Amino acid sequence: MKPIILDVDTGVDDALAIAYAAQSPELRLLGVTTCFGNVSVEEATRNTLYLLELLGREDVPVIAGEGKPLFRRNLKGDAKHIHGEDGLGGALGAALPKGEPGPGHAAKFMVEQVRSMPGQVTIIAVGTLVNLALAVMMDPEFAKLVGKVLVMGGAVTVPGNVTGQAEANIYRDPEAAEYVFRAGLPITLVGLDVTMKTLLSRERLQEWRSKDSKLAHFLADATDFYIKAYEHKRPDIGGCALHDPLAVGMAIDPSFCRTQPLHVEVDVEGLYSTGRTVAFRRFGPKKPPNMDVCLEVDAERFLEHFMSRVV
Ligand code: RIB
Ligand code: CA
Repeated sequence: MKPIILDVDTGVDDALAIAYAAQSPELRLLGVTTCFGNVSVEEATRNTLYLLELLGREDVPVIAGEGKPLFRRNLKGDAKHIHGEDGLGGALGAALPKGEPGPGHAAKFMVEQVRSMPGQVTIIAVGTLVNLALAVMMDPEFAKLVGKVLVMGGAVTVPGNVTGQAEANIYRDPEAAEYVFRAGLPITLVGLDVTMKTLLSRERLQEWRSKDSKLAHFLADATDFYIKAYEHKRPDIGGCALHDPLAVGMAIDPSFCRTQPLHVEVDVEGLYSTGRTVAFRRFGPKKPPNMDVCLEVDAERFLEHFMSRVV
């Protein structure tokens, strides 16, 4: 079993990623850490605790992290228009989890776990990269000791989803992302280049609705809201994108995507392109790659695998 930490801003697709990870025997979920993004860090923590309880995985600790970007401390904004007022498409409503988050900070938890199993821990970051940036700052050896880092974020060859240029997880904290990209971590970037091809259609929700399971109905209701938001913004694609689940999928089976080693930086001060992930792809002398970038995905095989594990 591969030991993983999932760093989330829960979020409907984060919720699907948590369910996928929690129900995949290849992965050992050491903990779920939370950050701001789709919702506030407090809401992300609440949603994560509730979902793990629905999954019967109260054994997995939830550790809260940062509520604000690294430098842009006054930056406001969330994605409740896509994920609902509660972040879970209204499926949560007024319900509250029974449990509480664990003690300490998400970044400290990452450092402790990575130190206790050098070279083994995979971090799957599917929110802003602020917790990961802080972990790298906290421990100068973190980058050498972490096993692998999967980042759901960026758009290297395709347009963004928050602006024409930038993807949400990078846009909301570009300095944290830039810091993480320069840290020498073994990163695989799972960006919109591939996640916009892994789509869950409304028809597939019937498979969950037909089940006698509270979890299945909860995820179907949450995803229904998320699909409606996609239908509004992208009526052409016929479903919602499984961004965060694909990052989990890559931890289970890296052959879901074709990757290319590239040097990628974040535009932190663009006039029009703040938060853009810029890959240096020119001919001639190249900058040495700092990550593997997912450029193609076997979307059908991934979708069937995801559906076989969730719910
Ligand atoms: O751009 C998609 C990403 O932004 C996903 O991780 C989604 O949950 C939001 O955080
Ligand atoms: Ca997310």
